[in-house]
Amino acid sequence: AELGLDAAAAEKGGFEHFMLKEIHEQPEALANAIRGRLDLHLGSSVLAGMSTSQRELAELVRVVMVGCGTSLHAAMVGEYAFEDIADINAEVQQAAEFRYRNPIMGSRDFVVAISQSGETADTLAAVKEAHQKGAFVMSLVNVVGSTIARETGRGVYLHAGPEISVASTKAFTCQVSVLLMMALKLGRGRRFSREEGLKLAHDIGSIPLLVERVIAKEHIIAKIAEDYVDNEHAFFIGRGPMYPVALEGALKLKEISYIHAEGYHAAELKHGPIALLQPGTPVIAVACEGPAKDKTLGNVEECRARGARILGIVTEGDTDAEEVMDDYISIPRTHPLVATVPAVVALQIFSYHVARLRGCEIDQPRNLAKSVTVE
Ligand code: G6P
Repeated sequence: AELGLDAAAAEKGGFEHFMLKEIHEQPEALANAIRGRLDLHLGSSVLAGMSTSQRELAELVRVVMVGCGTSLHAAMVGEYAFEDIADINAEVQQAAEFRYRNPIMGSRDFVVAISQSGETADTLAAVKEAHQKGAFVMSLVNVVGSTIARETGRGVYLHAGPEISVASTKAFTCQVSVLLMMALKLGRGRRFSREEGLKLAHDIGSIPLLVERVIAKEHIIAKIAEDYVDNEHAFFIGRGPMYPVALEGALKLKEISYIHAEGYHAAELKHGPIALLQPGTPVIAVACEGPAKDKTLGNVEECRARGARILGIVTEGDTDAEEVMDDYISIPRTHPLVATVPAVVALQIFSYHVARLRGCEIDQPRNLAKSVTVE
C-alpha cells in the first residue's frame, strides 16, 4: 500500500493535487500549444488543421462554437476574439441545445467543436448535426484520436498534455490561446492588417511568460484566499471578454470548494442578484485594462455601496482599479483578449487555495466526472 501512495505522489510531481500540478504546468502546456503556430513575419498563424484555401476561409460568414462546461466558457472568449480580430459574426451555442433547436446553417458556417476530452456526448451530437447541415466543421480537442477529433476529421489539437483534475485548468487556457490564433488566421484574410497581426502574434507568443508571472504570485493569492474561506456565497463579475472569465472563475470556485458562486455580467448584477449582497459578501471583479474597464469599476462601486467585499483582478500598475478594491491580484499588461488567460489563472489559483483551506477533495469533487458521455 505504501508503494501505491508513493506512486500516486510521484504522479503528482510533488504537488498536493493534480489540479495544482496542472495549474503549474500551464506555462509549458501553453508553450506547446503555441509553438510553431505563430507566423511572426506575416503577423498571422499557421494551423495545419485549419488549412484550406484562404479563399474558402474568406467565404465563411459565421463562426459557431459549441462545447460544454469550461470548454463553453473558452468558446465565449472566442466569440469576442472572432468578432474583434476576424471581423466575422461569431456565436456560442451550448452543445446540449444545438441539435434540438434546428440550427440554421450551411456550407459558409464554420462550426468549431471545443472539448478537452473529445468524448463529451452533447458536443459529439452537435458535431453530427452540424455535419448534417453541411457546415464547415472543425474540432479543438486535447485528447489525440478521441471520438470528436475522429468524427470531425479536420481540427487543431491543444497539445496541453493529459489533464487529470476534474476541474479543468490548462485545457481552458490552451483552448483560449488556440482560439486567438484561429481568429488571427481568419482575420488576416479579412480586415486585420499585418501591423495589427504582428502585434497580436507577439502578445499571444508571450502568454506562457504572462502565466508564469501570475503563478509566481501564488503565495500572495494564497494569503488573500484565507479571507474568503468562510463565505457560503460569492459573485464573480466581468464585462466583455472578462465576462466569460468571471463565469469560469465562479465555476472553478463552486466545483472544488462547494461555495455557492455565481458568475454574472457586471451590468446584469443590478437587475436582480444585487439584492443578495450584504455587508461582507464577496464580489470578485475581473477589471483588467481594456474597453470595458471603466464600466466595470462603476459596477464595482454599486457593489461597494452595498457593503460587499471586493477582490479585484486588475492590471499591474493600474492604481485607479486598485483603489476601489478591498483586495486585488494584478496581472501583467497585455492585449485585452490575451489578458483573459493570465486573469483566469489568477482565479484558478484563488479557487484552489480556498478549497484547500476548506479541506475539500479537490481532484475528485462530489458528483462530478472528468468526462461526461451521457446527454
Ligand atoms: C465535464 C468536466 C468539465 C468539462 C466538461 C466538458 O463536466 O467536469 O471540466 O469542462 O465536462 O468537457 P470536455 O472534455 O468536452 O471539454
